[in-house]
Amino acid sequence: MVPDPAAPEIQRLLADMAETLEDAGGVGLAAPQVHVPMRLFIYHVPAERADGVEIPLTAVVNPVITPLEDRKVLGWEGCLSIPGLRAAVPRFHRIRLTGIDAAGQKINQELTGFAARVVQHETDHLDGILYPMRMNDFRYFGFNEETARYPLTLPQQEEPL
Ligand code: NI
Repeated sequence: MVPDPAAPEIQRLLADMAETLEDAGGVGLAAPQVHVPMRLFIYHVPAERADGVEIPLTAVVNPVITPLEDRKVLGWEGCLSIPGLRAAVPRFHRIRLTGIDAAGQKINQELTGFAARVVQHETDHLDGILYPMRMNDFRYFGFNEETARYPLTLPQQEEPL
């Protein structure tokens, strides 16, 4: 649990995480990845990765994900905690995300595609789940240089999450 997103120490943590994420060139970072055992993460969806909707850097505290349809889609994921590797991972295509933002305001939004994927990946970090634990086809798992040569028709989602 996170006591108060507006507390100075949480704001400082979020600022540090934002800097780490920017340095790493990733799209998401969860607090446990910087050795802070709190249920929060930050993420963004840049324009070039957005399926229509760009999402600025956003903090999500106490996230809860509800799948809105059974369909899962495969997409490439990397992870700052597993450098140099990536894999095609099945994720729910459409979810509802609830939680609290950095200002303490309620989040309640529907997300699809890449945004939904990032949020599922980051929320998994809060439960100690890394993407290989979500995989069902290990043919699509390898070093970035190797998997870049795979003749796959998957979306090329290469940013570390
Ligand atoms: Ni990750």
